[in-house]
Amino acid sequence: MRVLVVHASQFGATKGIAERIAEVLVRRGVRAEAYPVTELSNLAGANAVVIGSAVHAGHWLDDATRFVYRHQDELRQVPVWLFSSGPLGDRAVRSPQPDPKEVGAFRILISPRGHEVFAGAYDRETADFSHSGLIERTVVSRMMPEGDWRDWEATDRWADEIATALLATAVPA
Ligand SMILES: Cc1cc2nc3c(=O)[nH]c(=O)nc-3n(C[C@H](O)[C@H](O)[C@H](O)COP(=O)(O)O)c2cc1C
Repeated sequence: MRVLVVHASQFGATKGIAERIAEVLVRRGVRAEAYPVTELSNLAGANAVVIGSAVHAGHWLDDATRFVYRHQDELRQVPVWLFSSGPLGDRAVRSPQPDPKEVGAFRILISPRGHEVFAGAYDRETADFSHSGLIERTVVSRMMPEGDWRDWEATDRWADEIATALLATAVPA
């Protein structure tokens, strides 16, 4: 059983969640590896795929959306789970969050087993704005709440549910 946990991350928070999910799966005895979406050209050998993206202005990052459309035929053949990393700030993380805009289309396209929104993180010191325009750089650096709201217990619980679902259907070697 090989699970790919692929992620699109601008500043690293989503990558951290993806790596944590892979760690939990490995601890449960599932072979799992985390990769940036841009590093995978095919899904050969994957028995399941978890795909996560940071949320920007209500949307998944373009690289993550492109990944789903490019690999839709392969993704329809295996169980897929999606996650989004978004809300920042104490109030936002306590409020119900809408799905990013793409998720409705993804449900039709690849029938994911689930989609989870996890709270995110933003660290002004380490944020790399080299790929951002001036407006994004200015708005984000001035307006975005700074801190790490990632909920590792919620992440572990979700990854554990995935492991349980996969192990229940695995054919013994
Ligand atoms: C330009 C920009 C727009 C954002 N828009 C949203 C948004 O609409 N909804 C949301 O929940 N989070 C939004 N965020 C917060 C990030 O998605 C969150 O900090 C995420 O954890 C960052 O992940 P990353 O470090 O992997 O890039 C935005 C962040 C940036 C930089």
